[in-house]
Amino acid sequence: MSYASVYQRSIEDPEGFWRDQATELDWFRQPTDIVGQDDQGLYRWFRDGELNMSHLALDYHVNQGRGDQAAIIHDSPVTDTQQRYTYRELRDAVATCAGALRELGVTKGDRVVIYMPMIPEALISMLACARLGAIHAVVFGGFAPHELAVRIDDAKPKVLLTASCGMEFAKVIAYKPLVDEAIRQAQHKPEAVVVKARPQADAELQAGRDHDWDRLMAGASPADAVPVEATHPLYILHTSGTTGKPKGVMRDTGGYAVALNFSLGAIYDLHPGEVFWTASDVGWVVGHSYIVYGPLVRGLTSVVYEGKPVKTPDAGAFWRVISEHRVKTFFTAPTAFRAVKKEDPEARHMADYDLSCLKTLFLAGERLDPPTYDWLKRIGDGRPVIDHWWQTETGWPIASNPMGLEPHPEKPGSATFPSPGYQVEILDPMGEPLGRGEQGHIAIRLPLPPGCLPTLWNDDARFRSSYLERFPGYYDTSDGGYIDEDGYLFVMGRMDDVINVAGHRLSTGEMEEIIGGHDAVAECAVVGIADEMKGEMPFGFVVLKDGAELDHATLEQDLVEMVRRNIGAFACLRQVAIVQKLPKTRSGKILRKSIRQLSTESDVPVPSTIDDPSSLDEIRGAMEEHGMGRHGG
Ligand code: COA
Ligand code: AMP
Repeated sequence: MSYASVYQRSIEDPEGFWRDQATELDWFRQPTDIVGQDDQGLYRWFRDGELNMSHLALDYHVNQGRGDQAAIIHDSPVTDTQQRYTYRELRDAVATCAGALRELGVTKGDRVVIYMPMIPEALISMLACARLGAIHAVVFGGFAPHELAVRIDDAKPKVLLTASCGMEFAKVIAYKPLVDEAIRQAQHKPEAVVVKARPQADAELQAGRDHDWDRLMAGASPADAVPVEATHPLYILHTSGTTGKPKGVMRDTGGYAVALNFSLGAIYDLHPGEVFWTASDVGWVVGHSYIVYGPLVRGLTSVVYEGKPVKTPDAGAFWRVISEHRVKTFFTAPTAFRAVKKEDPEARHMADYDLSCLKTLFLAGERLDPPTYDWLKRIGDGRPVIDHWWQTETGWPIASNPMGLEPHPEKPGSATFPSPGYQVEILDPMGEPLGRGEQGHIAIRLPLPPGCLPTLWNDDARFRSSYLERFPGYYDTSDGGYIDEDGYLFVMGRMDDVINVAGHRLSTGEMEEIIGGHDAVAECAVVGIADEMKGEMPFGFVVLKDGAELDHATLEQDLVEMVRRNIGAFACLRQVAIVQKLPKTRSGKILRKSIRQLSTESDVPVPSTIDDPSSLDEIRGAMEEHGMGRHGG
């Protein structure tokens, strides 16, 4: 079927379109109410349907005779181990884990925080929550205790699941002390903590609160999948907003299951029994959707990789895993390939592996910059290289080349066409639609398709103010871009204070709050500066308090350490400049956009609203002094 006809139907007859998609799944009760507004006026999908995500992801496939197929393959070069779970084995492990959680008092609607590295137990934990109708909040293992504490206080979990350690290359990161510190900082205290002991690190257990994973599982009896309403929250996933308080994106169950199953066919062209590898982390939305729930609902084999693109042990790591597990479709972030390209520019490692299984490469998390696209095309033996655009909020791609419907000619720098269900428009600041080729705010007409966030956890008001109020009738993506003459969408970057560092979404506002907490700092601005490897890197400009006596090196070291300690090392604030004045408007608003532009453009216009034009020159001078270059894109 052509993309155009599928897309058109999804827009003209969304109810009929998504009703048909819903019939692909094994509901406990098929929905008849396809889409409508709740008493808050928010759109909800499949309100009278009942299902269970763990049933769809596991029991259903076992019942269909797929029990002996590999559900997940854990490949861990950092621990030199591999482990396979068939659908039957995974179902049993998940049922046991659900039973153990139930014995700890977890029931439908309770929250469970999961802070784990990329091990099978992370997926088992998520699916076990889903089995009980408990709502998980997975926290990326790179987050520091403070961030974990913030998420604990927002989700208020009954139980927290963790492991004794994660591995960063050869470095062992002990998790338990981080968890203990986070619980100490949090107002809310989970009743129980369950720790999967790994051989690389011991964990001290606190009597009365902490449990050893293996011992707990050994004594648990399996739990069946609990039917939940389609609108029941499956998870909360916190993501960076413009302030220090992350947004708790809430995901429902029914819409998400339907959307994931649809996207795996229409976009990724994947079918039951095939092998999909998404090299990301379960702590991010990409991991939730395309390491865990999507592949399993679809009956695929999902590769779970605990390693890096390079140095585990070399830049051939991706090719090894693809070849060894016969991966058909591979998905990662452009930054990961930039790391490979840096170490192996001619991709010599590829010759060591049989890559005949690999059909398509998908990239997301940040824009696929044309130089990286060109490199992938050059080394890729004619394979499609697909840039696709999405956000934690949407849960699945807003735009992509629909490989399962009708592949289109690729255009470097473009995410191709809107996915079925997404009515994407480019608006000017007043909300007026712009023409082809004109750059503006990318907005999506309501209702958003199934799978996208219905609201924020316990915060409808913030959901409205963050996404719905700026352009009435639309969801504001906060990304900017344009649609060209051929209808291709180009996503050029965020219009707000969110930056993207090595595929990780971070808030500059949050970093400013942290830096502003330093005794010597009067005010500061953090902006994303173009970086050849990581896409963007945060850079801080700081004005000192009068009389503050601190040399630059000490201040920089303090601030770098504060950001590492509060957010995590992956935030990558490495450089800070001291300036006399920040560029501001006459009403006192910091001109962040102008600062950002200075890192990528040689001819930055002086805004007419600027208070003191010389402040921009000072920023330019500081950038030159720190040797900031331009990004290759
Ligand atoms: N746990 C603990 N620490 C972590 C971590 C984790 N899960 N992930 C990153 N860090 C730490 C690193 O150890 C490093 O610490 P250091 O400053 O003490 O050395 C720091 O955070 C920066 O890490 P990172 O940004 O990952 O840089 P890197 O140079 O180690 O690796 C890449 C660069 C490109 C290989 C890596 O960033 C990568 O694989 N990125 C892909 C990201 C991705 O998949 N995103 C998902 C979007 S789809
Ligand atoms: P996250 O919520 O962490 O997935 O980050 C979402 C943000 O990453 C988007 O709002 C974009 O700014 C950026 N992003 C992700 N994928 C792409 C892409 N393919 N092209 C351009 N930007 C992207």
